[in-house]
Amino acid sequence: MVETLSKNPRVTGFGSLHRSTIGRKMIMAVSGLAMLGFVVAHMIGNLKVFFGAPEFNEYAHWLRTLGEPALHESWFLWIMRIGLIVALVAHFWAAITLTRHDAKARPVKYQARRKGGYATTLMRWGGVTLALFIVYHLLDMTFGTVNPSDSKEPYARVTASFHEWYNVVFYTLAMGALCMHIWHGLWSAANTLGWNRATTASLRTLSSVVAVAIALGFLIVPYSVVFGWVD
Ligand code: HEM
Repeated sequence: MVETLSKNPRVTGFGSLHRSTIGRKMIMAVSGLAMLGFVVAHMIGNLKVFFGAPEFNEYAHWLRTLGEPALHESWFLWIMRIGLIVALVAHFWAAITLTRHDAKARPVKYQARRKGGYATTLMRWGGVTLALFIVYHLLDMTFGTVNPSDSKEPYARVTASFHEWYNVVFYTLAMGALCMHIWHGLWSAANTLGWNRATTASLRTLSSVVAVAIALGFLIVPYSVVFGWVD
């Protein structure tokens, strides 16, 4: 039977999805996968930096004109942004309410750490690190507020940012957190959504490969600036 968090356990169906534990886990899984889709596309798009400033800036411009003439300029970008914000809020809300529910269901603290406790702690702190990273990253690349360059061009912002050692360190730590988050999150999402027909070992391997590939795909950009391959 589905465990219900609502005061009105009789309400069932899609409208009550957010009231049950499994429903909230599904919300976490689906919103996480939506954000993963963005992250993969963003990582691949960033690799355009290796083709030089004109191509990279042109790509950033293309993102703003995507969908034209059916859509007005930047509409596609704003639809994506709203989708990402909704996914982020839903993900956070489900994480926080599920944690509270877990704590309430366990009034007496465990003496020893329960199995999986480290993964939970890692996901929680990893999530907080990523949230802080996103705020800093937007100020750095999108708004340029903390970016060392005065330029509005994305290529100039990327190279200027990674000429500063503290940005390379912070982005490296954040990509480490992203890697751990995807590694455990993808595995959990697959289990929640019932994609666990594959063996646990192969699911774990797949999650690890995806997580490491994404982190390395992102990190190749700052380190290429550090080593002078991109300037
Ligand atoms: C080394 C790693 C990364 C680099 C070099 C990078 C680069 C960029 C650049 C240049 C922009 C501005 C694009 C534009 O104005 O057209 C941007 C925007 C953005 N990035 Fe990243 N990014 C990195 C990692 C990440 C990660 C890991 C995430 C998410 C976890 C992320 C999320 C975003 C978001 C949400 C935006 C704003 C998109 C928008 O609404 O315009 N980025 N990034």
